Amino acid sequence: MSDILKGQRALISGGASGIGRAIASAFVAEGADVTIVDRDPRVVDVATEVGATRGEVLDATAEDGVNGLIDRLVTDDGGLDVLVCSHGILTQSPAVEMPISQWRETIDIDLTSVFLLNRAALRPMLAQGRGRIINVASQLGIKGGVSLAHYAAAKAGVIAMTKSIALETASQGVLVNAIAPGPIDTPMVAGIDDDWKRAKRAELPLGRFGTAEEIAPTAVLLASDPGGNLFVGQVLGPNSGDVMP
Ligand SMILES: NC(=O)c1ccc[n+]([C@@H]2O[C@H](COP(=O)([O-])OP(=O)(O)OC[C@H]3O[C@@H](n4cnc5c(N)ncnc54)[C@H](O)[C@@H]3O)[C@@H](O)[C@H]2O)c1
Repeated sequence: MSDILKGQRALISGGASGIGRAIASAFVAEGADVTIVDRDPRVVDVATEVGATRGEVLDATAEDGVNGLIDRLVTDDGGLDVLVCSHGILTQSPAVEMPISQWRETIDIDLTSVFLLNRAALRPMLAQGRGRIINVASQLGIKGGVSLAHYAAAKAGVIAMTKSIALETASQGVLVNAIAPGPIDTPMVAGIDDDWKRAKRAELPLGRFGTAEEIAPTAVLLASDPGGNLFVGQVLGPNSGDVMP
């Protein structure tokens, strides 16, 4: 580790688990000043475990909560340099049977709340003339997935939103990009049945799922200077070869 994020004020959602937690750990190791938030109260203990400055409970779908958090961080720290949106849920249902409540919950958590965090972070970042936003999408947002119409639609939305905001803000110093991981061994996929996992592994050119620690360096790259300086509206794909755009 090389301190390449030294002094960067970073906020990571979904930081209590999986990819968000691994990114928090990698950012701390690179010298960043990290706040993690999650709707899971374990976020407070995880903050201590990974060496983050703060760990707070936040439901990212709550507009007032998101705006209030970013206002407080800006007041306390004087600004915000990096936002990573890594929170999310995954449920499964064939489209023909999917209740509208399931569709709406996924769009709300996996897409709308990412917009809320991006919008809130843009205000201080645009005011200071620099910032990095990294949205964790999914390769399913590019290729779709069986029983995952809601999740794939939300992730495709995250990718399109990322490109659109990137177009609006790059000239003002705020660089917005997405990471679209393939299957990663985290609690999110732990509940999926073994037959699916076996079949999925077999179709991956790499022959295995990734780990959260193998995603974190992509976030470090996008947050870093000069490593991330030329990425604008890009979708980076650490995905074991599942998608080759
Ligand atoms: N694991 C994979 O295979 C995979 C693949 C591609 C993309 N992703 C994406 O990566 C991100 C991280 O997933 P993960 O695999 O680390 O899963 P995870 O379940 O380990 O972590 C997700 C975290 O998000 C939190 N969360 C859920 N809803 C929230 C809300 N409304 N407000 C605040 N926090 C909330 C959860 O409490 C959890 O701690 C997600 O956006 C997921 O869609 C995961």
